[in-house]
Amino acid sequence: MGLSFPLIILIVRFLVSLMMFYLILSTSSSGVEPLCHDDERFSLLQFKESFIINQFASNDPFAYPKVSSWKPNQISDCCKWDGVECNKDTGHVIGLNLNSSCLKGFLNSNSSLFRLALLESLNLADNHFKSSPIPTSFRQLSRLTNLNLSASNFSGQIPSEIFELSKLVSLDLSYNHPLLKLQKSGLTVIAQNLTNLEVLSLTQVDISSNVPNILANLSSLTVLSLSKCDLHGEFPMGIFHLPKLQRLNIQYNENLTGLVPEFHRTSPLVSLRLGFTNFYGELPDSIGHLKSLIRFDAFFSNFSGEIPSSLGNLTNLIVLQLQSNSFHGSVPQSISRLVNLEILCLHYNYLSGRVEFELFLRLKYLSVLDLSDNNNISLLTKPSTNSTVAKFRSLGLGYCDLDEFPDFLRNQDQLELLHLSGNEIHGQVPKWMGNVSIETLLGLALEDNFLTSFNQLPVVLPYVNLKELRLDYNMIQGSVPIPPPSIAFYTVSNNRLTGEIPHLICNLSSITELDLSSNNLGGLLPQCLGNLSDSLTIMDLHNNSFHGTIPQTFGEGKHLRMINFSQNQLQGHLPRSLANCSMLEAINLGNNQIHDIFPSWLGILPELRILILRSNELYGTIGSSDGNFNFPKLHIIDLSNNDLTGKLPSEQFRNWKAMQIVEDEQLKYMEEPKALQMSRGYYVVDIYTLSMTMTNKGMEMVYGKVSNLFIAIDLSRNRFEGEIPEVVGHLKELNLLNLSHNFLTGPIPFTLANLIRLESLDLSQNKLSGVIPPQLIELTFLSHFNVSHNRLTGPIPQGKQFNTFNISSFSENPELCGNLLSKKCGNPEDSLPPSSSHNSTNKNSEFPFDFGWKVVVLGYGCGFVFGAVSGQIVITKKYGWFMKTFAIGQPRRRVHWRGRRN
Ligand SMILES: *[C@@H]1O[C@H](CO)[C@@H](O)[C@H](O)[C@H]1NC(C)=O
Ligand SMILES: *[C@@H]1O[C@H](CO)[C@@H](O)[C@H](O)[C@H]1NC(C)=O
Ligand SMILES: *[C@@H]1O[C@H](CO)[C@@H](O)[C@H](O)[C@H]1NC(C)=O
Ligand SMILES: *[C@@H]1O[C@H](CO)[C@@H](O)[C@H](O)[C@H]1NC(C)=O
Ligand SMILES: *[C@@H]1O[C@H](CO)[C@@H](O)[C@H](O)[C@H]1NC(C)=O
Ligand SMILES: *[C@@H]1O[C@H](CO)[C@@H](O)[C@H](O)[C@H]1NC(C)=O
Ligand SMILES: *[C@@H]1O[C@H](CO)[C@@H](O)[C@H](O)[C@H]1NC(C)=O
Ligand SMILES: *[C@@H]1O[C@H](CO)[C@@H](O)[C@H](O)[C@H]1NC(C)=O
Repeated sequence: MGLSFPLIILIVRFLVSLMMFYLILSTSSSGVEPLCHDDERFSLLQFKESFIINQFASNDPFAYPKVSSWKPNQISDCCKWDGVECNKDTGHVIGLNLNSSCLKGFLNSNSSLFRLALLESLNLADNHFKSSPIPTSFRQLSRLTNLNLSASNFSGQIPSEIFELSKLVSLDLSYNHPLLKLQKSGLTVIAQNLTNLEVLSLTQVDISSNVPNILANLSSLTVLSLSKCDLHGEFPMGIFHLPKLQRLNIQYNENLTGLVPEFHRTSPLVSLRLGFTNFYGELPDSIGHLKSLIRFDAFFSNFSGEIPSSLGNLTNLIVLQLQSNSFHGSVPQSISRLVNLEILCLHYNYLSGRVEFELFLRLKYLSVLDLSDNNNISLLTKPSTNSTVAKFRSLGLGYCDLDEFPDFLRNQDQLELLHLSGNEIHGQVPKWMGNVSIETLLGLALEDNFLTSFNQLPVVLPYVNLKELRLDYNMIQGSVPIPPPSIAFYTVSNNRLTGEIPHLICNLSSITELDLSSNNLGGLLPQCLGNLSDSLTIMDLHNNSFHGTIPQTFGEGKHLRMINFSQNQLQGHLPRSLANCSMLEAINLGNNQIHDIFPSWLGILPELRILILRSNELYGTIGSSDGNFNFPKLHIIDLSNNDLTGKLPSEQFRNWKAMQIVEDEQLKYMEEPKALQMSRGYYVVDIYTLSMTMTNKGMEMVYGKVSNLFIAIDLSRNRFEGEIPEVVGHLKELNLLNLSHNFLTGPIPFTLANLIRLESLDLSQNKLSGVIPPQLIELTFLSHFNVSHNRLTGPIPQGKQFNTFNISSFSENPELCGNLLSKKCGNPEDSLPPSSSHNSTNKNSEFPFDFGWKVVVLGYGCGFVFGAVSGQIVITKKYGWFMKTFAIGQPRRRVHWRGRRN
């Protein structure tokens, strides 16, 4: 019961994202220059007055209000004002550079800004214009060559007037929030009108179209940034060949496809970023011609073939990210020539073969390396060397066939993330590991090895800043290793830990996820666990031997979402304080010895979807629910194998609204994604996926993930009596209904025929009478039906699904007749041979036994920069957007990614 949960962890590698702010510095030389014009000074002052200064309006740490030096009372020369640039001959204002100036307010079409008609350069980036639309009056600034309105909280459709500024050389409208939108034909209009463009940056502008070929006519382009624009279709190859193009960034357009073309020797490309698109095919050998390339990102796409060894010719490369594609073959030796490489990510491909680790150690700047999760990479770390040069910040060697902690780790004193999961490391963690990067280490993943103990390390692990520790699926014995109080994610499931939970665990005041499941732990739960629930979101202690009561203060956590204490010997009452955990979505306390009445008081929890209390000692009637105790989101309730009595709770059934209409039809799983900042620039993205065990279709099924479309009631093996209330027929979304092994009497209500999504219906082992309602043949998804051991009479309905059930579904009903049974009905139609079975599939079906073998990959924007610019981190609304599923040969319970974001 209550199985584990594949815990999927994703960490994404992030990189320097080169943000382009074009600083137009006023370069006034000391000579005889005309003073600024009064009308322009007045316009500038008016412009200043239309905003307030707010330090939170800009995100740049060096932001300051430039306009505060603009003083009306001085006879000051506005040409000398901070951010203002004048023409040296005429004294007219031609440049305004107010980026990161803490301006907050609306920018209107009648703003005095638009009276500065001679402006050639305008930079308002990184201010806060409160979702103003971009004013159409920009048309008046017809001399503009540089316009930067990035990261300034403009919103709405980009006005076509912007595209009348035909002198523009640089246009940057990126990173605005909420969203700027470009009209469908926008890119075409830009290509037709703004033919002088050298820099075009529309990152995070909602373009939602394909990329027109004519964009390849912008022959002066040096920078093109169309990242995260919801582009689709095939990307025009001609753009790669633009003669001056140095930076091309089209990443995070998951529906944008294309091939990487052959490159010419003359290509000036410096940065090529194609990550998180649907680009496919092989990388051409001629990529080796891009001698200027410093950065190449092609992660999370659909590339295949071998990694061309000509990449080794790109000796300027600093960043190479090819993770999460379908590259196969070996890791090219030529990588050892990339002497400037700092970041190399090859994880999540199908690479194989033996790789000498020396290769990487010689790259003296290499600080991020990930080779994890490939097909069959076998890393040779011996003979060990003293010539270690590379100092890693992040090292991913998961599933690299290592059989011990590699010796070169001894010299690493700057590691932040170390991922050695899925290797063949046996025995104790070596004593020297207790000295490795103890100040810097933030994340340590050692799961899925054969480790037996931490015995030689101190009781509290020495890594004083550790935030994430993954030790699951080893053979660790002895007492629970204790991470330092900085820890946020700590999982050590599926080991051989014994003893009680040490009280020291209560020092972990930052912990959000604790998983000690499937060990041999026992004893009482320390009362202080209740204190931890202040920070915990997920607590999983299932499949141990804990006894005693659940701490009564346990449930006062404000953040708790999922608790799983199933398969222990916990006794006593359910803590009433659970009702205060208003975020709780899943409670699994099945297979314990909880002695209590049905907790109708949990019905107040607004988010509760899953309540599993099977195989306990619940007693009494379920009774009616009152007032607010309605279980408004309940999808799954399993109370089987208890001592509940009385009638079936028809009033509760009526209240369980989420079983009557599923509001959100999109398939989602019960999981808890969390992004944790590990240090400046690093994030760990963790997804805890709930799993459970239920009896379905007569089998104990392990649900590796639980979909939001799976809806189930199991009240079997209790002592319920009376009739099945007709109101059950309201629960239209039910997939599973099990009322077997009770003392139910009366007829099977024909309203069950309303449960059109029902896949499994078990009413066996009761005292039901009357006929089987013939309407039930309409339940076309029903694949498991059991009414055996009752007192039913009359004929077995014929047709559709009913022709697929066999005798065991109906047996031990002496008065039931049909051609399956020894008692025939005497109606010739009944003896027709059953027609071929109608195999239904239901989209709601679960995926039993589908543990974590399917790897869900989630990417949070390497270089999304939304942290940096907008102050917003992570989880975008379109979370499903990032999901990709990869079929992977070997079982992988956990997946890691390391990431750095800048
Ligand atoms: C784009 O360039 C091609 C080739 O230089 C030219 O034939 C075509 O007319 C151009 N398209 C537009 C709309 O200017
Ligand atoms: C990936 O590329 C291959 C061709 O290399 C194509 O057949 C496949 O459909 C692509 N996959 C996706 C998800 O687009
Ligand atoms: C890479 O360099 C090697 C040797 O310097 C050369 O033979 C080869 O042609 C180069 N390949 C590319 C694609 O530039
Ligand atoms: C750990 O480092 C300390 C100080 O550098 C040293 O004295 C000690 O011997 C080291 N321990 C191990 C096991 O390497
Ligand atoms: C646990 O926390 C207490 C109070 O914060 C502290 O005094 C104690 O040293 C901690 N214990 C350990 C082993 O860190
Ligand atoms: C729980 O925390 C409170 C105060 O935060 C403290 O007084 C109490 O001793 C703690 N309980 C346990 C069992 O640690
Ligand atoms: C819930 O919280 C409130 C306020 O903190 C407290 O008064 C009440 O006793 C709690 N209820 C339970 C059942 O613990
Ligand atoms: C219904 O529950 C009983 C007892 O818990 C179990 O034996 C049976 O297999 C379940 N029926 C189905 C169809 O899963």
